[in-house]
Amino acid sequence: MTTPEIAPPHEDLTFHGPLSEERAARLIRSLDLPDDARVFDAGCGWAEFLLRVLEANPTATGTGVDLDAAAIAHGQANATARGLAARVTLHVGDVAQYRPDGPFDAVVVNGASQVWGGDPLQHTANALTAARGLLRPGGKLLLGEGFWEREPTDEQLAAMPIPRNQYSSLADLVDLAHIHGYRMLGVEQANLDEWDVFENGHGLAWERWLRANPDSPHADGVRAKADTHRTYRLHGWRGTLGLAYLTLQAP
Ligand SMILES: C[S@@+](CC[C@H](N)C(=O)[O-])C[C@H]1O[C@@H](n2cnc3c(N)ncnc32)[C@H](O)[C@@H]1O
Repeated sequence: MTTPEIAPPHEDLTFHGPLSEERAARLIRSLDLPDDARVFDAGCGWAEFLLRVLEANPTATGTGVDLDAAAIAHGQANATARGLAARVTLHVGDVAQYRPDGPFDAVVVNGASQVWGGDPLQHTANALTAARGLLRPGGKLLLGEGFWEREPTDEQLAAMPIPRNQYSSLADLVDLAHIHGYRMLGVEQANLDEWDVFENGHGLAWERWLRANPDSPHADGVRAKADTHRTYRLHGWRGTLGLAYLTLQAP
């Protein structure tokens, strides 16, 4: 553990991903939830997206699960502060072990297809299968998932820890959803500004910590972590790895 602790990402970010407030509001509208909707968010982080779903749908209830206890505690505090505590249940836990009380009108898997574990090359397929099992017929899956905006070069692949075949093109990602029985209701993708806001916010806490703790025995490790992430980002995925937001309807 790093001492003093590094500030958690929610101090610098609204969502734990490349997502603007405007796009989040549009994605929530795309779910077109019925009254009394039940929503499940797998790998919800600090649950900001789920809380906004509940704010936009005053009779909806939500359940979110994440391994990160600090994120869940922050989400719970926000839910209480915003008068949503009675309509949201946030659990610290492993989604792969959690048995949610479905079926749900909507499932959210945003930047979190890995939560069901297994081979990284199968994460998207696993998430599509698992979410389908949680949805009522005709329910909606909001899937925020990676894809290659353009073919990564050998140099980019060498600079980041993501194998070429972990992701496909956007068209192939949507086809995969259809192979799993869904119909696509909408697709959009994070733009470069959203990526930069996310990545800048992601690295800020490390830089603040390094400036404040130059003599800490952990400084070299934190600096190495920040430098590695900067290399991944700027020599690796920036402008090449995309994040697609698919609104999908289950059969
Ligand atoms: C990129 S973040 C996305 C968080 C959130 N969906 C959002 O958009 O703000 C991925 C999240 O998945 C969580 N996670 C990873 N593996 C998990 C697992 N097996 N069970 C539950 N949560 C998991 C991480 O703790 C992290 O909060």
